[in-house]
Amino acid sequence: MTPPTSITVAPCPPITGELCVPGDKSISHRAAMLCALATGTSILKGFLASEDCLNTLAAVEALGAVVERQAGDVTITGTGGTFKPTDGALDLGNSGTGMRLLAGLLAGQTFATEMTGDASLCSRPMRRISDPLDAMGARVELSGEEGTAPLRVGGAPLHSITYALPVASAQVKSCVLLAGLYADGTTTVIEPRPTRDHTERLLQMMGVPVQVDGLSVAVTGRGPQGPQLQAGEIVVPGDFSSAAFWLVAAACRPGSRVTIRNVGLNPRRTALLDVLARMGAGLSVTAADTGSSGEPRGDITVNGTQLQGTTVAGDEIPNLIDELPLVAVAGAMATGTTVIREAAELRVKESDRIATTVAMLQAVGVAVEEADDGMTITGGTVQGHASIDSHGDHRIAMCAAILGMVGQGAVEVVDVACVATSYPQFWDDLESLRRIGGEA
Ligand code: S3P
Repeated sequence: MTPPTSITVAPCPPITGELCVPGDKSISHRAAMLCALATGTSILKGFLASEDCLNTLAAVEALGAVVERQAGDVTITGTGGTFKPTDGALDLGNSGTGMRLLAGLLAGQTFATEMTGDASLCSRPMRRISDPLDAMGARVELSGEEGTAPLRVGGAPLHSITYALPVASAQVKSCVLLAGLYADGTTTVIEPRPTRDHTERLLQMMGVPVQVDGLSVAVTGRGPQGPQLQAGEIVVPGDFSSAAFWLVAAACRPGSRVTIRNVGLNPRRTALLDVLARMGAGLSVTAADTGSSGEPRGDITVNGTQLQGTTVAGDEIPNLIDELPLVAVAGAMATGTTVIREAAELRVKESDRIATTVAMLQAVGVAVEEADDGMTITGGTVQGHASIDSHGDHRIAMCAAILGMVGQGAVEVVDVACVATSYPQFWDDLESLRRIGGEA
């Protein structure tokens, strides 16, 4: 059956209920890549079977790993440190994480690999990875017009570097560290601001030491033979970025109460909780043991209220980068002004998320002013009665759906197929929360 290209979401009463969201996308990508290089067989429980992560699984399979999927689990038998050449180009679909992290690993192989993706991915900046990889001695050719994919990478010995990241990007940090596993000596990345550290945690868990000293992160490579990674069991927690849709949907209306269970609580991902608390939401977090994957996890309960506006900038930005369109939704429902600044990175996500978020809010009747590096939202009323184009961006499509739930009029979300890249069961979860809320 062809999925519908648009879905209309009507306003509903404040939502109550609880759910588990699917596995973390960033961790699933990294686990697939590192288990594919490990010695032995790993079991990934809670792996996110979304289009993005399935593209990464197919890529590591083409590179020589043996992948099996049984029920919700993925089993990967690794290659023991290096990949094998592929027959054709790897297609990473919509995923910047897939392409940028894999480029780091492929830079260290003794052969070259071509990578491509969809129109969105092929319009996103790749010089941010080719510059440091070139500095390590890698051969990277970007065949897109503007320093973009398709790209070809690998086939030259690497040497270690110390690299100060020009932008706070976990994808670029991870790319350089992963290439560093194939360099001689110690590769150090210095971040301008702290970004998500899933790569560092997973490497440590699989037996590769990572030295962290403030904003500097270093690994020591073993040259072309590649890393010695231990296979094992990895239990992926729920994706905080998926949970975030329900947290905001509940936080912005009195009478809502939602609990998300077994979700990742890595502090480099959860700055949205600080923002919602500042805006007045009632939040409680129950941390569980750090499970296998070396990641904190637990349950979050949010009680809704009339939110107040806030300002989000600085060090918080990388730790809620994917939630910023949702901060804008919360700001639209809040009294007063919500200001987002120092977030120019949003312009190079799956869409230009400053432009697409501003257009989305304007469509539902919210006053919003666009800035180069963010926006200023005057909140209060979300009229709805709008049609919003996702521009193929999964997070914009899901934000538009939340606006439909919490505003005063229905929202038609146009171009919804992209939701499958990160949260295939989003519409089912939305229905289940609406149903429980309606009965309450
Ligand atoms: C990701 C890092 C972030 C984020 C992306 C996933 C990752 O990108 O926006 O969705 O898995 O490392 P940047 O690190 O480039 O900001």
